Amino acid sequence: MTADLEAALADFARALEADLAARLDAAPRPGEIVRPPRLLAAMRHAVLAGGKRLRPFLLVEAARLVDPGLTPAALMPAAAAVECLHCYSLVHDDLPAMDDDALRRGRPTVHVAYDDATAILAGDALLTLAFDLLADPACHADPAVRAALVLDLARAGGLGGMVGGQMLDLAAEGRFGTAGADPDEAGIRQLQAMKTGALIRAAIVMGARLGGGKDADIIRLGRFGEVIGLAFQLADDLLDVTSTTEEMGKAVAKDAAHGKGTLVGLHGVDASRAELERLVTEAADLLAPWGQRSDMLIAAARFVADRRR
Ligand code: IPE
Ligand code: IPE
Ligand code: MG
Ligand code: MG
Ligand code: MG
Repeated sequence: MTADLEAALADFARALEADLAARLDAAPRPGEIVRPPRLLAAMRHAVLAGGKRLRPFLLVEAARLVDPGLTPAALMPAAAAVECLHCYSLVHDDLPAMDDDALRRGRPTVHVAYDDATAILAGDALLTLAFDLLADPACHADPAVRAALVLDLARAGGLGGMVGGQMLDLAAEGRFGTAGADPDEAGIRQLQAMKTGALIRAAIVMGARLGGGKDADIIRLGRFGEVIGLAFQLADDLLDVTSTTEEMGKAVAKDAAHGKGTLVGLHGVDASRAELERLVTEAADLLAPWGQRSDMLIAAARFVADRRR
């Protein structure tokens, strides 16, 4: 990982954290009645303190690739929206009915720190907040751009995207009988493109849109997002085998134990590392038209593959 990327990601994470903390305060916004303290505290637990903030960082860097004049501050509402949707997905992913995990970002998961019902509601409210942030005029002056962002995130996050991918992921564990269990390579790639790739891709497409990208830019950056999205989940599955709970801040060695369909399970660690390298090269090649301006996004692709947590 280049020092530049490390510093830029850390700076951005601090700014995003402050932005999210301010949005999740006790004061009801116009149209709201009251913010119940227990629910608000659970949402703050889910969103604040920890997390690499990679998806919102990718949104900002994709926007600045297309329009270098944009500042991170101007992109913060959309970046925060993507992170809120991601955090909701983690809260629900960790629930007893899903992966049943007690540790996330080095801290107790929301349902452990609070209770299952509060965790479900905190996830629901974070999902709703994501679309609140995109619909608000503070996100972008042009209502057509805001509507396009809402559609990007909805399509990526829902039935045919992240939520659909989570369904296929559970089916691949054999939870619902044999249908969908033990997917082949194409099946695994598809479920991973949905459960993880779709949101990463959407973050980048949304950034390109906010940067005023032309259709060709958006298509090319979307493809870059698909490739690093696959790489991201492949790295997560590798780390599940090779890392520790201390380093990851979440349980490891879970996938094989649950018979989860992963490429690491199918092809082993060495072949998966080689595939990861191939994906990073493919991702970098996609950014060639932007020359040196794409250095930060290429470093981010490298980070996705080399990350330790
Ligand atoms: C974890 O995502 C869930 C997966 C898609 C593998 P991250 O690894 O980005 O989690 P945080 O936000 O940094 O905690
Ligand atoms: C999570 O995949 C994907 C989403 C939350 C959408 P995992 O279940 O592998 O993520 P971790 O390992 O719990 O972070
Ligand atoms: Mg899961
Ligand atoms: Mg999980
Ligand atoms: Mg995992």
